[in-house]
Amino acid sequence: MCGIVGYIGDKQAYPILINGLKRLEYRGYDSAGVALLNGKVDVYKCKGKVADLEDFIGKKPIDSKIGIAHTRWATHGEPNNVNAHPHYSQNNDLAIIHNGIIENYASIKKELINRGYVFESDTDSEVLIYLIEDIQKNEQVNLFEAVRIALNQVIGAYAIVIVSKHEPNLLVAARKGSPLVIGVGKGEYFLASDASPIIEYTKHVVYLEDEDVALIKKDEPLVVKTVKNKDKTPYVQELELNINQLEKGGFEHFMLKEIYEQPKSIRDSFRGRLNLEQNLISMGGMIEYEHKLKNAKRIIIIACGTSWHAGLVGEYLFEDLARIPVEVEYASEFRYRNPVLSEDDIVIAISQSGETADTLAAIELAKSKGATIFGVCNVVGSSIARATHAGAFTHAGPEIGVASTKAFTAQVTVLTLMALHLAQSRGTISTTRFHEIITELNIIPEKVEKTLKTSSQVKEIAERFKDVANFLYLGRGYNFPVALEGALKLKEISYIHAEGYPAAEMKHGPIALIDEDMPVVFIATNRGTYEKVVSNIMEVKARKGKIIAIVTEGDTEVKELADYVIEIPETEEMLVPLLATIPLQKLSYHIAVKRGCNVDQPRNLAKSVTVE
Ligand code: M6R
Repeated sequence: MCGIVGYIGDKQAYPILINGLKRLEYRGYDSAGVALLNGKVDVYKCKGKVADLEDFIGKKPIDSKIGIAHTRWATHGEPNNVNAHPHYSQNNDLAIIHNGIIENYASIKKELINRGYVFESDTDSEVLIYLIEDIQKNEQVNLFEAVRIALNQVIGAYAIVIVSKHEPNLLVAARKGSPLVIGVGKGEYFLASDASPIIEYTKHVVYLEDEDVALIKKDEPLVVKTVKNKDKTPYVQELELNINQLEKGGFEHFMLKEIYEQPKSIRDSFRGRLNLEQNLISMGGMIEYEHKLKNAKRIIIIACGTSWHAGLVGEYLFEDLARIPVEVEYASEFRYRNPVLSEDDIVIAISQSGETADTLAAIELAKSKGATIFGVCNVVGSSIARATHAGAFTHAGPEIGVASTKAFTAQVTVLTLMALHLAQSRGTISTTRFHEIITELNIIPEKVEKTLKTSSQVKEIAERFKDVANFLYLGRGYNFPVALEGALKLKEISYIHAEGYPAAEMKHGPIALIDEDMPVVFIATNRGTYEKVVSNIMEVKARKGKIIAIVTEGDTEVKELADYVIEIPETEEMLVPLLATIPLQKLSYHIAVKRGCNVDQPRNLAKSVTVE
């Protein structure tokens, strides 16, 4: 979603800002802009990509050592030149960039209009900068104070950075509900929505907390206060990120690179946690809440999108192995219900970005009801990682492609570790069985590697079906969430309508869709329900549907029936999602490429969904 970049120091700001925006392109956006300070505030902005902004700026004056820049993902007002950020204040003395939503903008705007202000855009962000200017004018305060006072009047979420013509030696930034990181260099500061634009300049960062307001001056220490005017000591952390992780590394797209990184990301997610010699799993984050986790009456998993699918795999894992009842909830629904929660409940919040607004709000709700919240996050320092009581990072490394791939398999890996650990501590698994599963998990990266190699026929399948209008994905048990994930991957990057269903549900409705033009992907690796899936395949075949089947190596029965077959190595049933997902990711990737779609930045989508 929207991306923020800011710079203050001795270097030219423009190249830093533009490079920063390019690093944030993966978040998804529809317009871009910069504001540069040089005696006055120059704002350049336009609809389209960062490259369009560069063309638009062309030879316009860009000499400045202080500036802010933004990529906007439209919420209030269509994507156009006027609604793009930065926004000027009424008299053009200030400019703001803003992520998030000011919920009470309409009433503030009305009040300002009554007082003679004239607005140019449809955005809530413009309202905020007008309000700040109005406060400065009426209360005769400096920019920092005006921002602080204004933020006490707004309801909603924000990450903002402001420049002022009258205070040309500083930036003011603040956050609530939307992320903002400040990179601390030598006599200079870098601001961004996440660390990716900062890492090439400094490893030292401060993550602003909710309701922090920061005064940023070059050559001076950072000053942070709360909106309620309490002093805070900024906590400088060292980033573990490395710049190569943010490059494509020879791959055509980030998504493809990330698909191929899965042997490593899965291994990194269990490295140091899985101990074959001692036959145990140790997870630092679980130690403090061991007693609560062990005695949990119920686990509630909250997440969105792909992370929700990982949560569904988690449901099967926790129930199968640890015998704890599990409910998996869309965070967006959970937060607006009146869920029944108690102190005996464990809530597991899953999020790659750690910034998903609905998941964050669901966490706050569950916390308020006394539940213990365990986070499974990929981004260290993210809002969700900080909002939870305890947690385990997924160690997938930065995921840049909007379509989640390696984050999913890393989440499933961590949930597998958690379920196994709980099973052992609750005595619901034998020592031998535990050892069998962790031994197999330990060699899963090699099997993922093999799956990546052997699924070469995926390209041929992609060519055959790239122009169809619909796809159906069917699976049972552990493969049902895989079917959902396969369908989501296809629709988000290729814009082909795709549905995932439990295979046996097909006859209750989706079977009506089957004709000779309908490809149906079956994940047919199950042991217990294999024959039943075979029957479902027969039902599709009888209606001339085209069958693409993911099967276990050596399978003969489904091979006979299917039009196309992709083999994956044999493994434990509960670990199949880690393998079966791979060819589905590749299938959607190749179809999207063949359709000429923007794989890494699909239309309308954002990588971290920081608005509800
Ligand atoms: O960062 P999160 O895991 O919280 O994001 C949740 C969803 O927005 C995300 O998984 C989304 O569905 C992806 N685009 C799927 O590929």
